[in-house]
Amino acid sequence: MITYYENERLFKLDTPNTSYLIGIVDEENFVGHIYYGKRLLDAEASYLLRTQELPYVPSKNNRERGAFYDTFPFEYPTGGVGDYRESCLSIRTESGHAGSMLSYVSHEIMAGKPGLAGLPATFGSDKECETLKLVCEDVYVGMQVELLYTAFSDVDVITRSVRVVNKGKEPFYLTKVYSACLDMDNRDYDMITLHGSWARERHIQRKPLGYGIQRTSSFRGESSHQEHPFLALVDRHTTQEQGEVYAMNFVYSGNFCAQAEVSQFDFVRMSMGIHQENFCWKLSPGEDFQAPEVVMVYTDQGLDAMTGTFHSLYRKHLLQGKYKDKKRPILINNWEATYFDFDTKKLLAIAREASALGIEMLVMDDGWFGNRSFDGCALGDWFVNEEKIDGGLAHLVEEVNKLGMKFGIWFEPEMISPDSALYREHPDWAIAIPGRPGTQSRQQYVLDLSRKEVVDCIYGMMSAVLRSANIEYVKWDMNRQLTDIGSAALPPDRQGELYHRYVIAVYEMQNRLIHDFPDLLLENCSGGGARFDPGMLYYSPQIWCSDDADAVERLAIQEGTALLYPLSTMGAHVSDCPNHIVGRVTPFHTRAAVALAGTFGYELDVTKIAREEREEIPRQVALYHKYNDLVREGAYYRIASYSQNHHYDCWQVVSEDKRESLVTFVQVMTRANHKSRRILLKGLDEKRRYRIYVEGQKPEREDGELVYSGDTLMKAGILVPDMLGDFQAKLIHLVAEESEKKGQVE
Ligand code: DGJ
Repeated sequence: MITYYENERLFKLDTPNTSYLIGIVDEENFVGHIYYGKRLLDAEASYLLRTQELPYVPSKNNRERGAFYDTFPFEYPTGGVGDYRESCLSIRTESGHAGSMLSYVSHEIMAGKPGLAGLPATFGSDKECETLKLVCEDVYVGMQVELLYTAFSDVDVITRSVRVVNKGKEPFYLTKVYSACLDMDNRDYDMITLHGSWARERHIQRKPLGYGIQRTSSFRGESSHQEHPFLALVDRHTTQEQGEVYAMNFVYSGNFCAQAEVSQFDFVRMSMGIHQENFCWKLSPGEDFQAPEVVMVYTDQGLDAMTGTFHSLYRKHLLQGKYKDKKRPILINNWEATYFDFDTKKLLAIAREASALGIEMLVMDDGWFGNRSFDGCALGDWFVNEEKIDGGLAHLVEEVNKLGMKFGIWFEPEMISPDSALYREHPDWAIAIPGRPGTQSRQQYVLDLSRKEVVDCIYGMMSAVLRSANIEYVKWDMNRQLTDIGSAALPPDRQGELYHRYVIAVYEMQNRLIHDFPDLLLENCSGGGARFDPGMLYYSPQIWCSDDADAVERLAIQEGTALLYPLSTMGAHVSDCPNHIVGRVTPFHTRAAVALAGTFGYELDVTKIAREEREEIPRQVALYHKYNDLVREGAYYRIASYSQNHHYDCWQVVSEDKRESLVTFVQVMTRANHKSRRILLKGLDEKRRYRIYVEGQKPEREDGELVYSGDTLMKAGILVPDMLGDFQAKLIHLVAEESEKKGQVE
């Protein structure tokens, strides 16, 4: 997979369908990026480094060293000595200077993939991947930089990360450390990013790449509702089915920057890493800094192929724990049912009704602790409010268990309310700038998790609650972003480390949680979906996608989320109507059809909804059990996007053996005098014949509606009849004929 060509001083990294070439250049051992793209049979492309063109290399033309720096395609560009494109690494020495330049020193090629100290990262066995460590240095600073590349053998993925070590005698400061860079020729690319807001997360945006820097980023202390740590450059003609895609996704949950810069020579520099804002990490002699991982995907087969690669990687090489590839219990969460107004009696009434309908777990959301009667108090007081939970938590859980249901609980461990016992005792535990009133958000502050005593105290309270009863699920929430970056415990020259130390502490806490409670199902959440990223997925196999569970709003949110993340990771529920966020009324079956594309559950008061809806729940539960293996494990294809066509949305999942497929079609807006809609299916076996069933519709013939070959279904498509009314959904099930005969399905 990874080969070093000694004479050519060239590294070639191969995945099944891609190659990545790195060259060492000139007497000063500059590390250049030669090629990333379709797999090459040989390793002869170093002419792409253009060292035979003016300004050549410094040993031949030192007079124009600056021009060399400003044009050479660097693997990991540094700043301050002549490359005016944005660098990946900036430093400041004790004397206040900033220039640096890296030279190759040595390398190591190893089987497998080393972990990254304190950080989440993809993993793989010695057979599944190989890693290249390139050791570089700047002797003037006394800095060693290790560039780490892993090539996978079962997915077209190369991951990158960077470790910086102070090998000198003086401290220096890292003021920027990105994790990956791709210097390429610009070929008329479009840029795809994910944007949003609270309740409107991860909408896909595509726009032409122009000259200069185009960036998506967050310095909110989390990956955020607003932007997403993902960037793809795609050929202007790339579609779902064909065309080139270069994609990067950051395995990190804090501040990030992802950008593309088109230079004067029509070169493009694509880079990704921790955002520079308020970042300054002091490295004393002997200390090191580990930057998080970037996942890189290249394909020439369009966006469906990119999505498939990310899904395979994350399913196999990122998700962990008992539930990684298991069906999750269908849950009912009391948030939209009761908000803060609940007690044991109300929760048990919901649980009783829910269990009779086939729902498998009750989740008690915000409001069960301290004197929390509204969202402005008690965060940090993680002890059960026995006025509300009368009889105690263990009693409530036992009663729920007696109904045959599991029990789950909500925490917001990273926060502190000014009105809390914890704050009254430890006001300095909140992140704040000394002498400056802190900015409140949802009337709360963020805890300074860079302090071990804070982490230990909160974790101690949490784990005591979890040990006090049979709790099988935790929803870990985070309802505000970071401001007033200051720690009462860090010295002045380390205040710039707080943002990153905070993220590492969250990882450490979640790591403790999943190791101390290995059977727990952990669902991350951040005011909806503000921290839905690969970093969090390393700890929790599912993340709440958005506070907006309106079936129509969810189409764009889930489309953008599923562009990168497996459907098994998307927290999706059937919620109340009129929808609490947008006030829209959608049919119960449509809400279920959309939620079935994720983890599935309910977020409503099942004792209060209309009888017809309640009666529909057992059928929806049955649909979940029928299709969840397929949804969780199948290949996902985007057929049509409501965000683009403004009429309908359609996606498809296909089992690995291609014997079964589920198509979800949502007609958002109906149209007068309209014919049926023709959609082309994907991913089927062209030679198999598939019988087609429409859920909830009696087949015209006893043995299913229609039988067509995969070839016809993919090339000619199927016709979906126009439906009466807005917000209608259909689930179309395809079963290969011989599977039915063998009784494998249905
Ligand atoms: C935000 C979450 O996304 C909601 O589901 C709910 O848990 C609230 N926080 C509770 O405060």
